[in-house]
Amino acid sequence: MSASGLAGLVVLALLAWPGVAAAQAPVDKCVACHLETGDERLTAPVKAFDGDIHKAKGFGCVACHGGDAKADGPEAMDPAKGFVGKPSRQQIVQFCGRCHADAAFMKRYNPSLRVDQVAEYATSVHGRRLRELGDPKVATCVSCHPAHNIRPPSDPKSSVYPVQVADTCGRCHGDAKYMASYKIPTDQMTKYKTSVHWKAMTAKGDLSAPTCNDCHGNHGAVPPGINWVGNVCGQCHSLTADLFKKSVHAKAFVEMGNPGCATCHENHGIQTPGDFLLGLGDKAVCSTCHGAGDKGGKVAVEMRALIESLSAETQKAGAILEKAHHAGVEVSQAQFDLNGAKETLVKARTAVHSFAVAPVNEEVKAGLAIAAKGYARGVRAMDELRLRRVWLGVVLVVILALIAGLVMKIRQADRRPVAGSPPKH
Ligand code: HEC
Ligand code: HEC
Ligand code: HEC
Ligand code: HEC
Ligand code: HEC
Ligand code: HEC
Ligand code: HEC
Ligand code: HEC
Ligand code: HEC
Repeated sequence: MSASGLAGLVVLALLAWPGVAAAQAPVDKCVACHLETGDERLTAPVKAFDGDIHKAKGFGCVACHGGDAKADGPEAMDPAKGFVGKPSRQQIVQFCGRCHADAAFMKRYNPSLRVDQVAEYATSVHGRRLRELGDPKVATCVSCHPAHNIRPPSDPKSSVYPVQVADTCGRCHGDAKYMASYKIPTDQMTKYKTSVHWKAMTAKGDLSAPTCNDCHGNHGAVPPGINWVGNVCGQCHSLTADLFKKSVHAKAFVEMGNPGCATCHENHGIQTPGDFLLGLGDKAVCSTCHGAGDKGGKVAVEMRALIESLSAETQKAGAILEKAHHAGVEVSQAQFDLNGAKETLVKARTAVHSFAVAPVNEEVKAGLAIAAKGYARGVRAMDELRLRRVWLGVVLVVILALIAGLVMKIRQADRRPVAGSPPKH
């Protein structure tokens, strides 16, 4: 019989189990005998299985391995009873897919769970190399979901919990020795761990920040081609991606073979951007392709100047309002209104991705108007403060004069001798 025919038989035989697996769990002789052997290789799966989602759902060893969980002796592992020992790498995908690609079966447990993992995996570089080349080093289902300790992605102890994913992929992709036979870099994880995304996820606990699978697909892991890097980032940065798509660069970059957003921001080691990226300065990204003589360079310099002016005016207004607030003048409304200028600053920085002056200028103009209003309020507040001080001075002088008068009165009264008291010197 051919290998695929055999595999087919195995799958057919195994297809009989899912429904009854739960009922068999209580009398699991597989577990009992394996624990008795004391052999680490045979007991480890049993111990790990306590935290596994499949155990929690009532499945036993036979759900994947087949065999007879009621038999006491080694006949429990009779291949005639559908038993499969340690599966080969190709067999693993069938092990899991038997249930996870069966929409009708999975619906009984969790109707919202996707059932495309096997199909997606088949399109990934991992799946294709396994199928077409028998490459033993690529990831299979159990490289990312440890065979006997499988947990849902929402469980913080899961190998596929967002914060854990980088290490799960990095175990292979960050291991230069393991990956030596391939021609790809092995710095994705180390770079990723310096990125704004990793910081947002770990320092801020923002689980909506992307990790490896958000950009590469959960199961269809391929490097995003240069044509769709923008789409990958655009899943979350949609405003920026829309501007970029309509810009001169969108087409020019594809022709040059530049990977969209990643051309200016990198892919794995994305750092916090700032105005320094814009223009023709040392750290500016524009200067790698444009110079002071061409239109791109001129636009870069102009956009930078616009944004810096708004940034400076907003700061100036903020500073004077802060000073007034400290001195006790009520300016909270003006301080609140100034947030509008800060928002336009954010919008202007996004508008940079149109790579044209007009959209940036539009935001900057609106922001400058708000900042000017704030600054004017600050100036008035400081005038008020000055006036208040003058009045305070006047009041103080009056009070001092009154006190002086009072003291003189008291002294006069003191000088008059009181009957019965000794004379003063
Ligand atoms: C009577 C004891 C006993 C029972 C019952 C038993 N096993 Fe085993 N199992 C063993 C021993 C011993 C080995 C190691 C055999 C070897 O190394 O050749 C083993 C090996 C295995 C292996 C690894 C096979 C390989 O290819 O490396 C798997 C998987 C396994 N058992 C699963 C099961 C399942 C599932 C059941 C229940 C249906 C079960 N066992 C029932 C004793 C038992
Ligand atoms: C969700 C499917 C699944 C379930 C349930 C499951 N296994 Fe496994 N088991 C696997 C896969 C897949 C492998 C191969 C792992 C690998 O290649 O790294 C494996 C491998 C093994 C091995 C060989 C380990 C080795 O290193 O040689 C043993 C023994 C084993 N399983 C026993 C069990 C026992 C006992 C249970 C029940 C407590 C069980 N398995 C439940 C999928 C499963
Ligand atoms: C006997 C059928 C069956 C087999 C075989 C099976 N699973 Fe499952 N699996 C399930 C069921 C049922 C659930 C629970 C779904 C739920 O209720 O959310 C589940 C849950 C999971 C989950 C958590 C999903 C979630 O988000 O809740 C993962 C991950 C998973 N399985 C991976 C695997 C892998 C990897 C294999 C192969 C090594 C495998 N499964 C083999 C039936 C199976
Ligand atoms: C390269 C690593 C990797 C491989 C290989 C892999 N998975 Fe996953 N899997 C993940 C990640 C990461 C998630 C978490 C997705 C998320 O956060 O929603 C996941 C989630 C799941 C889930 C939960 C539901 C879902 O789709 O989000 C199931 C079920 C699952 N995988 C089954 C499988 C099966 C079956 C295979 C083999 C065909 C497999 N996985 C291969 C990384 C992998
Ligand atoms: C078991 C080791 C292993 C694990 C775990 C693993 N990979 Fe891979 N991956 C490989 C190997 C080996 C290749 C093939 C490299 C090649 O052909 O260039 C590969 C290829 C890739 C490629 C294609 C690279 C290219 O340019 O051809 C991407 C993208 C990728 N993996 C992403 C991931 C992601 C994301 C994860 C985690 C969710 C992950 N991998 C987990 C071993 C692994
Ligand atoms: C923010 C999105 C994003 C995240 C997060 C991300 N990648 Fe990538 N990755 C990309 C892009 C885009 C490319 C392709 C760049 C190109 O074509 O030049 C890529 C390329 C790759 C490649 C192909 C080889 C290479 O380095 O060019 C591998 C392998 C890879 N990534 C693995 C990973 C792993 C592992 C992680 C997690 C530690 C990860 N990626 C996280 C976007 C991302
Ligand atoms: C899954 C959603 C998601 C994807 C995909 C994604 N990002 Fe992000 N990105 C975020 C989140 C969330 C933040 C953090 C926002 C914060 O806390 O400042 C962020 C932050 C950033 C920042 C820093 C912004 C700042 O003001 O500090 C840049 C630059 C960035 N991403 C670029 C990219 C690029 C380029 C890609 C594609 C290669 C990408 N992102 C893919 C969600 C995503
Ligand atoms: C990877 C190279 C590269 C980078 C980096 C780059 N550009 Fe460009 N840019 C091009 C190419 C190619 C064109 C289209 C060819 C042309 O007309 O000059 C272009 C065109 C332009 C144009 C339109 C010029 C015209 O003639 O209408 C503007 C404006 C522009 N870029 C601004 C910028 C700004 C601002 C930055 C920095 C934020 C930047 N570019 C970064 C390559 C680049
Ligand atoms: C030609 C270079 C270039 C390309 C291509 C590019 N950016 Fe930017 N990006 C910049 C510059 C320059 C800044 C800094 C603007 C500033 O702070 O003045 C920036 C800032 C950002 C910011 C922070 C400001 C904001 O908008 O919130 C994010 C996020 C961002 N880029 C995402 C992206 C995404 C997503 C893509 C692809 C759709 C992309 N960028 C493509 C040059 C580029």
